[in-house]
Amino acid sequence: MTKTQTFGIASLGVHLPPLAMKVEELAELRGVDPNKFTRGLGCREIALCPEGFDVVDLATEAARRALSRWDGKLEDIGLLAVGTETAVDMSRPLGAFVASNLGLSGNIRSYEVKHACYGGSVALRQALEWKLSGVSKGKAALVIAADVSLYAPKDPGEPTQGAGAVAMIVDAPTICAIDADTFAYSEPQLDFWRPVGEAYPRVDGPLSLDCYMRGAEHCFRQFIGERDAKAAFAELSDICFHVPFPKMVKKALVHTATALGLSEAETATLYEQKVEPTMRLNQRVGNCYTAALWLSVAHTLAGKDEGARLATFSYGSGFGTELFGLTAGPGAKAAAWMTDVETDLKDRRLIDGAEYERLREANVPAH
Ligand code: CAA
Repeated sequence: MTKTQTFGIASLGVHLPPLAMKVEELAELRGVDPNKFTRGLGCREIALCPEGFDVVDLATEAARRALSRWDGKLEDIGLLAVGTETAVDMSRPLGAFVASNLGLSGNIRSYEVKHACYGGSVALRQALEWKLSGVSKGKAALVIAADVSLYAPKDPGEPTQGAGAVAMIVDAPTICAIDADTFAYSEPQLDFWRPVGEAYPRVDGPLSLDCYMRGAEHCFRQFIGERDAKAAFAELSDICFHVPFPKMVKKALVHTATALGLSEAETATLYEQKVEPTMRLNQRVGNCYTAALWLSVAHTLAGKDEGARLATFSYGSGFGTELFGLTAGPGAKAAAWMTDVETDLKDRRLIDGAEYERLREANVPAH
């Protein structure tokens, strides 16, 4: 019997937009106690796109950066899958806009994946399973998760807004290997949706929290199986979640760990040591939907010793969830992709409330 090959992320690229605002500025603008946004939700800054800059720019630059550090060539890409809920056209995939910018064409399967914030993870799983299936003919996949999250001005979701893109080349497991084994759970629900023709999403906040917590519990129960939950968590160096805002993740972790039999003290330690640190970059970017989990993973993998094990939990409203493990590879330690993050954070400009108001008036998203 031949040994199953292992595949994973061979190169990573990240791109964050050139503007941001502290949530305290938004609190002042909306007449809200800033502690609600910082302590109540766990947010710090929201990343924002200036006029004329959009999800295609984010996705293209993230892909360029991932490709620039990869030892393959453009002709070695056989699949391009883009997960997004910021579609710029109802028919043409976002990947076609990106491919045009990159000069990428040929014998490539290219498409867009939509399932709210889960789309990037579905694209990644499809790329991995395409590699594992043996039909890739030795080619690599380029997967991009990219979104711009904007709520209607004054919506309670406004402090959770954000934007960003993460591109991943799926091939040799240089940065991390991705487990073939995966654990999914879904239910048809109406917790967050954006009807055709509407610029902003509608959200049932309490229902989305309930769905997120239920999905997490179902996925972690499958992942742990017959093992002791504490022992299974002890094997993980970190647990990365989709991050709508940090408090939501904390609530899901507490719900799940409690349901799996951890004491209050054990749950608190698990959160402080293995979950809270994974969200520090997300706190400075906000919810970038499909990219939020992969931004957390990019940040968390940086500097890891080869062999470190991470669990990744995806959530997409509607709703779909999936949990699978990653193992840090030899390229995690040097974390070349973190220069993208450092450069973008250094170069971005913090705006004040007045500029934010002007930006929102000028920048109403396409329907
Ligand atoms: N000081 C400290 N804390 C304060 C405070 C103050 N002055 N005032 C309020 N708080 C706390 C509250 O106690 C609360 O904390 P707990 O939940 O721990 O009690 C927290 O701040 C929020 O307060 P509220 O619940 O009163 O806030 P709200 O009603 O304005 O709701 C919101 C804000 C929670 C962000 C809500 O709008 C919401 O749920 N939004 C959407 C959530 C979401 O993103 N859902 C989708 C998830 S998945 C996803 O990303 C979508 C996808 O798939 C595309």
